[in-house]
Amino acid sequence: MAFINENYLKLPGSYLFSEIARRIAQFKTDNPDADIIKMGIGDVTRPLPPAVIKAMSKAVEEMARPESFRGYGPEQGYNFLVEKIIENDFTPRGVELSSDEVFVSDGAKCDTANFQELFGIDNIFAVTDPVYPVYVDSNVMAGRTGKFNEKGQFDKIVYLPCTEENGMKPSLPTTRVDMIYLCYPNNPTGMTLSVAELKQWVDYARENKSVILFDAAYEAFIREEGVPKSIFEIEGAREVAVEFRSFSKTAGFTGTRCAYTIIPKEVMVYDSKGEAHSLNKLWLRRQTTKFNGVSYPVQAAAVATFSPEGKAQIKETIDYYMENARIIREGLEKVGYKVFGGVNAPYIWMKTPNNMASWDFFDKLMNEAHVIGTPGAGFGTSGEGYFRLTAFNTRENTEKAIERINNKLK
Ligand code: MLT
Repeated sequence: MAFINENYLKLPGSYLFSEIARRIAQFKTDNPDADIIKMGIGDVTRPLPPAVIKAMSKAVEEMARPESFRGYGPEQGYNFLVEKIIENDFTPRGVELSSDEVFVSDGAKCDTANFQELFGIDNIFAVTDPVYPVYVDSNVMAGRTGKFNEKGQFDKIVYLPCTEENGMKPSLPTTRVDMIYLCYPNNPTGMTLSVAELKQWVDYARENKSVILFDAAYEAFIREEGVPKSIFEIEGAREVAVEFRSFSKTAGFTGTRCAYTIIPKEVMVYDSKGEAHSLNKLWLRRQTTKFNGVSYPVQAAAVATFSPEGKAQIKETIDYYMENARIIREGLEKVGYKVFGGVNAPYIWMKTPNNMASWDFFDKLMNEAHVIGTPGAGFGTSGEGYFRLTAFNTRENTEKAIERINNKLK
């Protein structure tokens, strides 16, 4: 008899975005003519930049000829991409990295979900609340939490509420934690941390020998000067932090799949005898065993995002989305909604009208305005009473959606 991993039984319902997709599919069946505008899952709508397409096509042509064909690549990514990443994303911000500290992968979602494997099952981990559900669910699956309790949270997780009272910024934990998930610019609130605020976390981690798992998937959307794009801009972070980055939202790779994770060699985890082990070495061991690298055409395409044309084309796309973000933010504010984010992130976090439950607001918006967003409660208990909209739709749909929200939901 095959037995189940009972940790899976602790998970209530489906993964957030699968549940939303299910509700949309049902709504479409019942209302085949409805013109639905999707601002739920953070999926991009603009095509890949021409420079990326050109590089990818060339790489595909190379794969068609015996003399330039490539089989398995290095599990941690081709050096031609790793070097461009360091040169463009880190060196200009004063962050020094060596090429064996960068691990190219097929997505930040997979990396943030898989990374917890390197940690002992008894580690206590902290997450912000609301939070990107992948950090929580992957740890539940691994058995690092207790059961799902009556508060709608998992026992053993340290939740760090981000509320209006604290400006949507988490306070340091009051009890010891070993792993800390931080995502900035934040998904779902769209808020950022300053250098000084991030420094407190680095200091905490250094004092407690904890590790910060820093998700920087939205760094490209930072507009304001002085907001850190990488945790490695913070002094001491090399000792205690791992950073996840992605080409998905930055360059339109959600369907193409390419990301990377930075693991400085100084970051350590400890065995029961107190002996230190390098996370970098452990991740290399994990990836070489379980992963065969990102395809050559995709890595060649990712390199093109760093060419002068690629950079200009990406900037144009990000400007486009951030103009959508402004339209959403200002459009909602104008009619009295309280909103957060949307300045340095493609997410707008709005308070539901009259404290409506967020799934009720989801249904109301879908049924009455045919607009899809993401209920805040799906990101954690502190997300109840909030709703997330993304800036990734077209200009026309974004304007239409705001008009519909403001007119139909009066
Ligand atoms: C989101 O909508 O939160 C993101 O699309 C999720 C993801 O990147 O996996």
